[in-house]
This record gives sequence, structure tokens and C-alpha cells, in this order.
Amino acid sequence: MKTTTIEEIPRCDYEGSRYQSEFWNEGRSYEDLAERIALKAMIPPRGRRIVEVGAGAGRLGDLYDGYDEIYLVDYAASQLEQAHARWGHDPRYRFVQGDIYSLPFPDGYFDTVVIVRVLHHVKELALALREVARITAPRGTYLTEFANKRHLKAMLRYLLKRGKAGENPFSLAPYEFVPLNIDFHPRYVYNALGEAGFWVQDERAVSFFRVPLLKKLLPAKMLARVDGWLQKPLQPLRITPSIFLRSYRPEAAGTGAEATGRWRCPNCHHAELIDMRQAVRCDQCGSIFPYQNGIYHFRANATE
Ligand SMILES: C[S@@+](CC[C@H](N)C(=O)[O-])C[C@H]1O[C@@H](n2cnc3c(N)ncnc32)[C@H](O)[C@@H]1O
Repeated sequence: MKTTTIEEIPRCDYEGSRYQSEFWNEGRSYEDLAERIALKAMIPPRGRRIVEVGAGAGRLGDLYDGYDEIYLVDYAASQLEQAHARWGHDPRYRFVQGDIYSLPFPDGYFDTVVIVRVLHHVKELALALREVARITAPRGTYLTEFANKRHLKAMLRYLLKRGKAGENPFSLAPYEFVPLNIDFHPRYVYNALGEAGFWVQDERAVSFFRVPLLKKLLPAKMLARVDGWLQKPLQPLRITPSIFLRSYRPEAAGTGAEATGRWRCPNCHHAELIDMRQAVRCDQCGSIFPYQNGIYHFRANATE
């Protein structure tokens, strides 16, 4: 059987997309507020370094205020330009174009890693989580969201035999309902986190009221407040389209060394990169990663 290399994995490219203005600014206040309630309850409020991978336009950037260094990473430069326009005035924020499968940071670099609304674009979950575990400090926290395939509407559709082709909310297998949009079974995600070396500590079910009529009739703030009340007590039912997990990376033998540099080469994994004014250079493989308009461009294969 042919094995896929990291370069061959398809990515969901948001370059040039108007995701922030067309998705978040158009009737999604309830989802945004409900997600913030979950995140505020689950993210360790203070720390040295935090990174959000797949941060898009930096929608959630204000939640990281208790950290000394805040890294916003995204695959798409145009998303980061928007994030930079929002948060670039604060010197604690750094903007990094990078890839979840090969992140440009040394081992154990972050106290906290956050990933929200990204895993549904991740075709090779195990590989991505392995990389997330690598950059998480021993005893560090990984806060993630995933799209839940066994949400209430999917289960009803299935039981009434109205499901889409291939949709079975009770099976463990990921459900790719359109290319690079994948819903996961909670148990599948738990298993993948365990294999990557994480222990799940906390879970919240989020977005109980993602129903157009309800959102039209009731104010977003009110719906979000009630959502917040239900997130913990109704979590065991796991009937929401979105689930948030807080995992912990226990200290493993041979880890815990302080990283000496800030970067690791995404091409050759050399960890002693040279930070020049307008670029970061890897002397081991010759890659040059430009720094332009406040953004570090660390997508792999940027050789001279
Ligand atoms: C649905 S948006 C979510 C943005 C942000 N987390 C939010 O909740 O507003 C998904 C983001 O994941 C990014 N993304 C997709 N694949 C990625 C990858 N392989 N590495 C890093 N980011 C990726 C996209 O560029 C996009 O900005």
C-alpha cells in the first residue's frame, strides 16, 4: 500500500477567502459567543506562551491576554494579514504562516495550544496531533474543538432514514461530507489524542441552538448564555455539532528541556535557525523564511 507523505496531504487553502466577513460577520454572533464561553472556562488564563494554530483572522485573539507571548499561526497569509491588522499593535502577538503538519517551533515550546474550527479540515488527524503534541510543553494544555458527527440532527436524519449517502453518526469512521470538511466521532478524537500522548481532562458540548429559526427569533446573547449553562451538564449526551476538549500532556521521559531557539525548520527540523531582520535562515538545509509586513512566512520548502 502506498503511504502518503506530508507534502502529499491535501490542505484546505483559505488564501484570499473572505471567511471572516462572509462567515463570522453574517449571523454567527451566537456561535461566536457560545464558543467564547467554552474557551474562557477551559483555557488556562495565564502563562508564558500560547499558540493558536489555524487562527484565521484572529477572531479569538483577545482571549489570550493573560499570556506573555501570543503566536497566531495560519496556513493562509491573507488570513494572517487580517489578524495582523487586528492585533499587530500589541508586541506580544506574532504572526506566523505555517502548516499544522510541520510547525516551525521547537519541541515543548508552548504552555498552551489552541485549535478551533480547524480539525474538520485535517485529513490526517493522527499526524497533525503528533505535531501538536511535539510543540506542547510537558504538563502543557491543548485546547481543541472538533465537528461532532453524532450531533442531534445527524442522528435524527439517520434514524428517519433521511441521512446523506455514507452518513452514519454512530460509526467511528470520520465522515467527509464534502472534500476536506470532516466530522469526527468523539471516541475517534479521544483515541487519536491518546495515541498522540494527551490525556483528556475536560469536555464541553457547544452550540445547542444552531437552528436558523431559533437564531432568528431569539437574541444571540440570550441563546449563548443558555448554551453556556448547558455546556457542562449536557456534555455527556454529546448531541451538539461542536465539542471542545481540554487535554493535558503528561511529562514523558526525556522531555522538558528548555528550547534554546524560537524556531525549528519545517523542512529539515534543524532547531538553531538564524533570526535576521527580514528573514529567518536555516543553515542546515539552506531554507530562507521571509519576514514581511509583520508576518513570518514559514510554509515549508522556502529554499533560496
Ligand atoms: C474555519 S477557519 C477557523 C479560523 C479560526 N480558528 C476561527 O475560529 O475563527 C479554518 C482555518 O484553518 C486554517 N488551516 C487550514 N488548514 C491548515 C493547516 N494545514 N495548517 C494551518 N492552518 C490551516 C485555514 O487557513 C483557516 O484560516
